[in-house]
Amino acid sequence: MIRTALTRRFDLGTPVVGAPMAGVSGGALAAAVSGAGGLGMIGVAGNHSAEFVAEQCAIPEGLPFGVGLMAWVLDDRPDLLEATIAARPALVSVSFGDPGPYVGPLRDAGIAVATQVNTADDVHRAVAAGVDVIVAQGSEAGGHTGHRATLPLLQEVLTLTDLPVVAAGGIATGRGMAAALAAGAAGVWIGTPLLACPEGLNSPAARARVQAAHGEETVLTRAFDVAQRLAWPSRWPGRALVNEFSREWHGREDELAHDDAASRRVVEARKSDDLEQAPLYAGESVGLVTTERSATDVVGDLTAAAEQALRRVAELLD
Ligand SMILES: Cc1cc2nc3c(=O)[nH]c(=O)nc-3n(C[C@H](O)[C@H](O)[C@H](O)COP(=O)(O)O)c2cc1C
Repeated sequence: MIRTALTRRFDLGTPVVGAPMAGVSGGALAAAVSGAGGLGMIGVAGNHSAEFVAEQCAIPEGLPFGVGLMAWVLDDRPDLLEATIAARPALVSVSFGDPGPYVGPLRDAGIAVATQVNTADDVHRAVAAGVDVIVAQGSEAGGHTGHRATLPLLQEVLTLTDLPVVAAGGIATGRGMAAALAAGAAGVWIGTPLLACPEGLNSPAARARVQAAHGEETVLTRAFDVAQRLAWPSRWPGRALVNEFSREWHGREDELAHDDAASRRVVEARKSDDLEQAPLYAGESVGLVTTERSATDVVGDLTAAAEQALRRVAELLD
């Protein structure tokens, strides 16, 4: 069994967090991750309602779960924070913006707070805000992320804080998980490996597309946010699978901001699940996701393989 500051803090059987992924990780996916001993998180975005939060958080008694919120969304949506607090998760992440204003209310309610960081300055801000857990999110990650790679970012973050640091971005095998733990991470925060799980809120077509995708097929782009006229801060582009829309518009975001026909195409494509025009967020480890499997099996197999890899690492020593 792998024990770290994270497993001790949240009484987990394995130091694996199922990343919050808006549109993919609802209560069923979170429960499947937690059922394997990890900590499943529910992703909440600006297009969600307080009722959605309450519904998704109604997961079986006794299973720990978390909720992932976005700071830039919360600024105008206090109802999402209130609904989250009312659901009493073990952990709430407040990422993509300053977590400062939200740490007090969450901790007063007895809820631990995490935040994803992408730079050294983010770490200083998170520590000053009083968070409990820091997630070093590398640019390999699926979804919105920063520009620094996971391993150098993780190493630097570990020099900047004594708080538990969890590694996110590109971790999809026991080898990868063992590497992050050996580097000093207290756990791993996995999103892309859970994109082909039947418990997800994503469509069967999206799950099939993920299984077919190669690791070279992702792009870090603002094109989808600009097209949808979303107020995503520009410092966090999103890593998605390359498709017809990104081939046409990535790098031409200024022009896209004035093209209403292209904007409508993405908005409509999201409704009709047209994967060549709508964003399908996925990280660089997508090439390792080749079968549809329960999240419980993904987390169980990942943990078993990480234990094996850690034993092999120990054998390197004389
Ligand atoms: C489809 C998708 C949606 C995501 N949505 C969110 C979100 O709502 N909130 C959040 O904090 N992070 C979100 N992320 C980022 C993840 O929390 C996490 O950092 C990332 O998936 C880890 O890297 P990996 O994809 O390489 O495993 C999302 C990622 C993906 C792939």
